[in-house]
Amino acid sequence: MATTKSHNEDEMEDELLKDKWFGFSMHLYHGFWCVDSNMEGIIATQTHFHAHDTDIILASLPKAGTTWLKSLIFTIINRQSLSHISKHTFHFKNPHELIPHLEVKVPKTCQSELDEIPSPRLFATHIPYLSLPESIKSSKCQIVYVCRNPLDNFVSGCHFWLEFDVNKGFKLDTQLIEEHLEKYCKGVLPYGPYEDHVLGYWKESIENPQKVLFLEFEGLKKEPKTHLIRLAEFLNFPFSDEEAKKYVIDEIIELCSFKSLKEMEVNKSGRINQWYQNNAYFRKGEVGDWINYLTLPMAKRINEIQEKLKKVGFSF
Ligand code: A3P
Repeated sequence: MATTKSHNEDEMEDELLKDKWFGFSMHLYHGFWCVDSNMEGIIATQTHFHAHDTDIILASLPKAGTTWLKSLIFTIINRQSLSHISKHTFHFKNPHELIPHLEVKVPKTCQSELDEIPSPRLFATHIPYLSLPESIKSSKCQIVYVCRNPLDNFVSGCHFWLEFDVNKGFKLDTQLIEEHLEKYCKGVLPYGPYEDHVLGYWKESIENPQKVLFLEFEGLKKEPKTHLIRLAEFLNFPFSDEEAKKYVIDEIIELCSFKSLKEMEVNKSGRINQWYQNNAYFRKGEVGDWINYLTLPMAKRINEIQEKLKKVGFSF
């Protein structure tokens, strides 16, 4: 027999679907957690964005290496200008200005303006695979996904979210870490649950390798050249033998390295929006920094996420 929910039950259900991430209000929307202020951009992207077959979309969870991948993808595609490294666009623009997030760009830009962007159009998104606009999934556009181990992803996020004005009073102490670690492990993080986000793109990369390239932050750190070659081939901008001989691949790795980007004046003192400075995107850029912030019991909690991933065949 069908039952009707009382007003109180509805309210309680809503309460369960709302939470806070540092100073930000979030709610569960179509199975993933959204910061309320990002909702307009997410819905506009889902409703209005029409992918072109030639588009390249970088997808990631926040703090997984998005900035790094934006710099690599932008350089691979525009590498004819690389001969003047000292005058490279990166000296004047942060990678986020060169590859906009759909959730930021779409609500502010009319369809015809978006359609006029020369191919290949480069965009980024944090939206989980299943919730992407239908045209991204059904067109021939390509997706590059970058994933980062959850321990470093969590710690990187703790630092980043404190950069926002709304969080200026917060201190990254054990209590704050514990509180957010608990949420992170329950999947309550922007665009989370973590495992759903990673597995959504990972599964698609296995079923449809021409469509989705799955990269790991840690792999890129360890063997940048191997992965850069893979990335360029996937994007149909492979390196020629001549380029390899002229060390173009090494130059790109150097140009886009953490040290190089962090030292650029635009990333030291510039800002891409009113909320935080560009330097918030360049903290340490290391693998394993979590050890400086998490106790072993805390790390074990996050390891449970990794165990869940292992059960379905994915491991770092
Ligand atoms: P840390 O906070 O651990 O230093 P995103 O770009 O997705 O916001 O992720 C930010 C993380 O990537 C930060 O990690 C940042 O320092 C790191 N990062 C930024 N640029 C990088 C680069 N060129 N190489 C390696 N890591 C980089």
